[in-house]
Amino acid sequence: MNFELKPFSLLEASTEKCDALVVLVPQDFKAAKDDLSELIGQAMKAGDLETKIAKLLCLYKPVQAHAIRVVLVGIGSGSARDVRSAVLAAMASVKAPGLKKLLVCFASPAREEAVRAVVVAVADASYSYTHTKSKPEARTLSKVLVAATNAAEVQITFDRAAGIVAGAELAKEWANRPANHATPTLLAQAAKDLAKLPKISCEVLGPKDVAKLGMGAFMAVAQGSDQPLRFIVLRYSGAAKSEAPTVLVGKGITFDCGGISIKPAPEMDEMKFDMSGAASVLGTFRSLAVLKPAINVVGLIPACENLINGQAVKPGDVVTSMSGQTIEILNTDAEGRLVLCDALTYAERFKPTAVVDVATLTGACVIALGGVRSGMYASQDDLGNALFAAGEMAQDLCWRMPLDDEYAEGLKTSFADVANVAGRAGGSITAAKFLQRFTEKFPWAHLDIAGTAWKGGAAKGATGRPVGLLIEYLVAQAYNK
Ligand code: BES
Ligand code: MN
Ligand code: ZN
Repeated sequence: MNFELKPFSLLEASTEKCDALVVLVPQDFKAAKDDLSELIGQAMKAGDLETKIAKLLCLYKPVQAHAIRVVLVGIGSGSARDVRSAVLAAMASVKAPGLKKLLVCFASPAREEAVRAVVVAVADASYSYTHTKSKPEARTLSKVLVAATNAAEVQITFDRAAGIVAGAELAKEWANRPANHATPTLLAQAAKDLAKLPKISCEVLGPKDVAKLGMGAFMAVAQGSDQPLRFIVLRYSGAAKSEAPTVLVGKGITFDCGGISIKPAPEMDEMKFDMSGAASVLGTFRSLAVLKPAINVVGLIPACENLINGQAVKPGDVVTSMSGQTIEILNTDAEGRLVLCDALTYAERFKPTAVVDVATLTGACVIALGGVRSGMYASQDDLGNALFAAGEMAQDLCWRMPLDDEYAEGLKTSFADVANVAGRAGGSITAAKFLQRFTEKFPWAHLDIAGTAWKGGAAKGATGRPVGLLIEYLVAQAYNK
């Protein structure tokens, strides 16, 4: 799908040939002299068009426009949220088969956040998962024009949003694929494919390499599955070699049945999404290749299944992590932190400016924040503030959570340096406290995306989050140099 920004007025938009023209009408709309504007003015006067958010008036081949379908939609005050709802509603009303070319036109000058919302909402509404369907209904939309009279002012935001969409769609795609179509080996292949893009390279480590590195925690999780583990190392080189990189770490559990501490059957299928952190790292690299910011980024993905065979790790087993710290695995379902802790230790070798890990880590985070904001932890305020701001900017929201040392009390054990679980209370925080033990050498942040990486229910599917947040954060690093 190709996005293009045009400096069109309503008059110019009405002369563009397309399958559908969506006109975003704000509550303070003032009709100009052209036919389409007059039509909108009349429809408002007659009470047939309301400018309340997502109120629609659909027209078929009106003489005032060259589009086959015209949808007039209210955007209220024109905030990002309002525009998103409006575009989603408009897209649902033009679900005609074979819709190829779409024009979305602002009826008054566009705000940056609104432009971004249009791009993201059009992409979300038209995404179609096809990989494992015998009669796929692929996306037909191939060209999206966004028109605003003040196009030049919002060009940078527009390009950024289109770059983010490219990455978020890759993240969605891999997160959506079932575990038998997204094994650790296939994830590694997806990373290698990314290395064909400019400025990106990739290296993949297997079981022997990981054993040599002493990643005992990661290996303990992987040993219960017949699928061999993969440790993926991606690099984006947008700046001089001498410049320290930011490291992103993505949890890549391609299926999490819980191991011996097995999960209940209902909704266990959703644990195919347990590699959403990894998928978001892949997606972020895709976006970096498009946007080409002047920074260096390393992506680390520990990928394996958390399953149960005769070799599976058992509750009470003690393993030695790459850091040398011993871990008592009291619950094999707390596997994410085990694969992440070794990846965090591995990150030290890059002498990073910051390390941000991304993981569907805890059910407790879903209880705390639901599906609106990701849980965000940061060892330093400036890093936490930068991630928070990036989330607001991208409308890919997060919320800072605490890291008081008292939360680590429950991780104490008589049999190892640390246990992999504490009690039920504050479960997202105690998981973060476990990870923090492996991050002493660099500024560190952790995003718990258990609630935000996918949606359950009838519209089950990956969201592509937090690619938007990560890209806004990384691009800001390039600007602030
Ligand atoms: N992948 C899960 C976390 C999860 C659960 C994400 C539900 C999304 C929805 C993780 O590996 C896990 O099982 N965590 C346990 C930790 C517990 C054993 C301390 C959890 O949250 O129940
Ligand atoms: Mn688990
Ligand atoms: Zn998990």
